[in-house]
Formats: sequence, C-alpha cells, structure tokens
Amino acid sequence: MIQKYVFGHPFETEAVVEKVSPCGGSPAYGEITLNDGFRFTYKMEADDIVYGLGEANRGINKRGYLYISNCTDDPNHTENKYSLYGAHNFVIVFGKETFGLFLDYPGTMEFDIGYTRQDELVIRCENADLDFYVIEGETPYEIVKQFRKLIGTSYIPPKFAFGFGQSRWGYKTAEDFRNVVKGYRENHIPMDMLYMDIDYMDHYKDFTVNPEEFPDFKAFVEEMKEQRIHLIPIIDAGVKIEDGYEIYEEGKEKGYFCKREDGSDFVSEVWPGWTHFPDMLNPEARDWFGGKYETLISQGIDGFWNDMNEPAMFSTPEGVARLKEYLKDFLAEEKEAPGFRLGDEVRALANNAEDYKNFYHKVNGESVRHDKVHNLFGFNMTRAAGEAFRKIAPGKRILMFSRSSYIGMHRYGGIWMGDNHSWWSHILLNLKMLPSLNMCGFLYTGADLGGFNSNVTRDLLLRWLALGVFTPLMRDHAALGTRDQECYRFEHVEDFRHVIGVRYRLIPYLYSEYMKAALGNDMLFRPLSFDFPEDSMALQVEDQLLLGNEVMIAPVYTQNAKGRYVYLPEEMKFVKFMPDGSIYQETLEKGHHFVEIALNEVPLFIRKGKNIPVVEQAECVEDIQMDTMKTIGYEDGAYELYDDDGVSTEASLPQRS
Ligand code: GLC
Repeated sequence: MIQKYVFGHPFETEAVVEKVSPCGGSPAYGEITLNDGFRFTYKMEADDIVYGLGEANRGINKRGYLYISNCTDDPNHTENKYSLYGAHNFVIVFGKETFGLFLDYPGTMEFDIGYTRQDELVIRCENADLDFYVIEGETPYEIVKQFRKLIGTSYIPPKFAFGFGQSRWGYKTAEDFRNVVKGYRENHIPMDMLYMDIDYMDHYKDFTVNPEEFPDFKAFVEEMKEQRIHLIPIIDAGVKIEDGYEIYEEGKEKGYFCKREDGSDFVSEVWPGWTHFPDMLNPEARDWFGGKYETLISQGIDGFWNDMNEPAMFSTPEGVARLKEYLKDFLAEEKEAPGFRLGDEVRALANNAEDYKNFYHKVNGESVRHDKVHNLFGFNMTRAAGEAFRKIAPGKRILMFSRSSYIGMHRYGGIWMGDNHSWWSHILLNLKMLPSLNMCGFLYTGADLGGFNSNVTRDLLLRWLALGVFTPLMRDHAALGTRDQECYRFEHVEDFRHVIGVRYRLIPYLYSEYMKAALGNDMLFRPLSFDFPEDSMALQVEDQLLLGNEVMIAPVYTQNAKGRYVYLPEEMKFVKFMPDGSIYQETLEKGHHFVEIALNEVPLFIRKGKNIPVVEQAECVEDIQMDTMKTIGYEDGAYELYDDDGVSTEASLPQRS
C-alpha cells in the first residue's frame, strides 16, 4: 500500500509515473515538523536495518552515517564522503516496523541515519515543499516491488551492452582506438564495446569529432563494426562557447542555455574551457539538445555515456573574480606562510555551492533557481537523449548511461558509478551499491573495473573483473595519467581471456535475468536478507548478493587472499569456472565455509534446486552460440530462459525454452 502526503508546493520532478491521490492526516510512522524546513524523525530500534539511497557511500545497511542527496562530482569516494553523483531519496526501515519512504524533492536533502543519535533516523531539507510517499509491505522486498511500480519500468539496453567494454581517458587518435581493438582481438579476449572519452571530440565540443583524426567518422564507425566493435562516445553537459560552433550559436539564439538572474547566459568552466549549460529542465531546450544525438547516430553510433551532468564546474567567472580578490589581499599582506586558506580558496573554484545559486531554469514559463532543483539536471540530460532516441531511431534500443541521476532517470538510461580508485575497498563499495541502486530502479549499472583513478595492479583487475562478470555494465575504464589498464597489457593474458570469457558464457543467463527484472519491476541484485528475512545471519551479510532467482555471488576483494569466507543461508552448489574451461561444482551445506578461489577462477553459487544455462565462450555477443547451451547446478531444476532479438524496444516476443 502506498500513501502520498503533499507538503507545500512540490516541484514536479516526474520521478513517479503512477498517480497516487494525496491523503490527509499524518503518516503512520515517525514525526514530521515543518517549522524549520521539513524534518522527519523516526526512533529506530536497536536491530532496525535501513536500506536504500541508491548510489551512496558505505554499506547495504545504511545505518550509522549521514548521507546528503546533492549530486556531486567528487572523484574521491572515501568513507567520509556524504554525497556522490546521484540523488535517490528512497529508504526502507526493516525491523519491528517495516516501511519504505520516498521523498520526492529535487534540492539538497539529508538522511541522518543514526549519525547524530544512534537510535534516530532524521530526514530533513530546507524547503517544506515535497511529495512524501509511505510504502507498506510485509518485507523490504515487497516494498521495493511496489516502489518500482510507482516509478516505472527500468531502461533496457541493447544486448551487445552485456558484452565487455574497454575505455580509457586519453585515447585520442584513430590509431589509439585501432590498437586497443587489435590488442583484444589478437589475444582473443572477448570485447564488444570501445568507449570514446573526451579526446575524440574537436576541442571538447559536444557532437563533433576531431576532423584531423576522423576525417570520415562514419567509415571509422563502420570499420569498427566490421570487427564487431561498437564505439560508445561520451557527451558532456557543458557546451563550448565558441563563435561559429553550431550548438553554441543555436542555443544562444533560441535562449536554451541556463541564465543568470540578469538574463545573461550563465558561464561555467568544464573541459572545453568556458561553457554554457543547456537548460535540461526546459522541455523545448531538452528536445533541442536531445535532437543533437542524431549527428552521431546518423554516422552509425548506437550508444553514449553522458558525463559531467551534476553539473560539474571547474570554475565560473564569478568564482575566479572572488579568488582574484582574495589573492590581491593575500599578496598585499605579504604573508610568509600561506596557511591552508590559500589552497582552500583555490579549491573552492570547483563545484562551489554559491555558483549553483547563480543560474536559473525556465520551467512552465517560470524561472527556477538551479540549487532548488539541482538533483534533476543529470536526470533531464539523459531524458533529453532517451526521448530523442525514440524519434531518431524508432523501435531501436540505444545504449545510454549517465553519471548523475535522480529517481526517474532509470526509465531512460543506466548509470556508472563514477570516478572510483584502484583500491580493494572499492570492489566492495561497487558490490554494496548494486542492490541499493536496484531498489531505486537502476538496473543497468557497473563501476569502472580496475578502478578509474590510481594505478591498477594485475591482481586487483582480475579480482574486480570477477565481480564485473556479473554486473550488467562490464567496463574497464581508467583515468588519464594512470598505468595502462587494458587486459592485454598484463602477463598471462590467458587469465583475462578466461575471466572475461566466463562473462560471455553467462550472458544468456544474465540477459534473461536482467530482462525479467526490468519487465517485472524486480531487482537483479538483492541482499541475502531480502530472500531470507528470518535468517539473523543473512541479515548481516554485506559482501555477498543474490543475483536473479538462481545465483549468489561472493567475490574476493582482499589482496593476496587465496579465497574467502561465505555464509550460505541454504544448501548451495559452489561453482568455479576453471582456467582450463572446465566447471567445478561442489555441494555445500547451509552455514559458514571458507572457499578457495584462485586469481584466475570465477566463483558463483547456485541456489538449492536451481540450475542455470551456460554456453561456450564467444568473442562478442553476436557470436554466442545458443546451441552450445547446457545447464549447471541442480539437475532437476527447470530454468526458464528469456530471450529476444536484443535490439528492438518492443521487447520482441519472448522465446521461452
Ligand atoms: C570524468 C568522468 C570520467 C572521464 C573523465 C574525462 O571524470 O567521470 O569517466 O574519463 O571525466 O572525460
């Protein structure tokens, strides 16, 4: 049961697709006060668990910290951070009382989940203008299913997007791209996608390509397609200010950029230098910007990633002026030791809260200050693309994922988890975010495998890939200046061929489970507690997940470990894909086990009585031979496979076997 309470005059975010009539009175749980903004307080029992918040830091159980919904470009996902790139205001309290809350509010919102007081959940925001949904159900899983219906069906990518992709910030020339494909194909490491980061563009101008490197881009896209590679270019939120650049000229003329209070176009610095932000909240501007994707689609492109759409800002002219003022005083004082303030003042140029108050959107003829609706920008950039795809390529699925998001965006695209590091702890963070994101509708997701920032090591990449084998988005991506991270760069390439090969052996199963989850408003990844709510041990497990209805995953995320401890809430088959192509299977009893897993083995567990399909390894999704399919797991389990053509938007008629 879902109840909706309306406070003040909420901004229409379009997160929700089902109409719920507002009810009067006050919600059955907690206490709400409105005298100083909005404040919800709930007294938690010692054993209550709190789930949700989608893309957020820390655990699956969110208890014990402060989380702030304020889409942020922060490349250091350390434990102390409160905000990441997304804003997903959905939580579930599971305990003596079990209920879900969705707070549809596009500005900054704080979730103090036992941070100030260990026994209190406090949710607050500055303006008491929001839709407050209370969702009741027997279990967290039931609550999620209702919530997912409320917010609409998740995005479905083309099937090739379940293949492996290589990315790196720094690929520039056509030769760079060709070499990566060569590296993979010559070493027979499977691959379907090659990502184009900002350097493919002409001076970082959206929807352009560097004319010197790609004089005939269409032919280049075709050349890659012949090698079964989909090129996936990045699109950034900021439009370069440059006379004669079509998008800039059009946007300026039509008034489609975000404005300052005085009506001038707001300016911010991103990769191209000074840019304007298209007003993604204005339907006309959104339509215009979305239409621009056609420039690349008409050249054969069938996938994109949207970036810097929190929106990220390196600086603004206003910020630079503030800094100059400070520096003038600083230099005049002739201080000997600069102290911390100097560095802080310089760092304050980027993503400064003041700057987010300096520009406006046009919504239904009214001017809306950006900071009030900040968390909707990335959502609407991706929505611009998603809506346009329907017109540009009717009936066809286009790959799309974004960095920033709000609930509702899951209908138009997936997300990747942003700029992580080559740290072991980030394998675990990657794992923990999966179920939380699924709760909020984001099914097509994954992290930069191997880590984006910092230098990778061979063992880290292998272990991370062994988790990536299961995430819908399986992409190796690294930052400029970091150590080479393509799989063929490391010794014993056969190990990488094998681990990524296992992904391809599992694609029929993974795709089938993804589609069932998407079409049924279900989760692909669940905490163990969702299926075993009565098992007090399962409630505490934070490093294993259920995948679909048959599988449990438990990756190794510790350096130099020869295996790991697992908890089995029921008897299961322990399966290892061995480097010689064989599949090891052993029945393990319910309870605790230490399982040995070598660096070049991929483990999974099959739930009691179930089995799953596997096929022979292929080098790209198109080459998967369905007639090599066999099942592993419990012999009498009857797996129902979902399959379709993988490209049409009308999920084509399911062929069940
Ligand atoms: C941002 C993105 C990252 C990308 C870089 C350059 O940091 O998150 O993935 O490589 O920008 O475009």
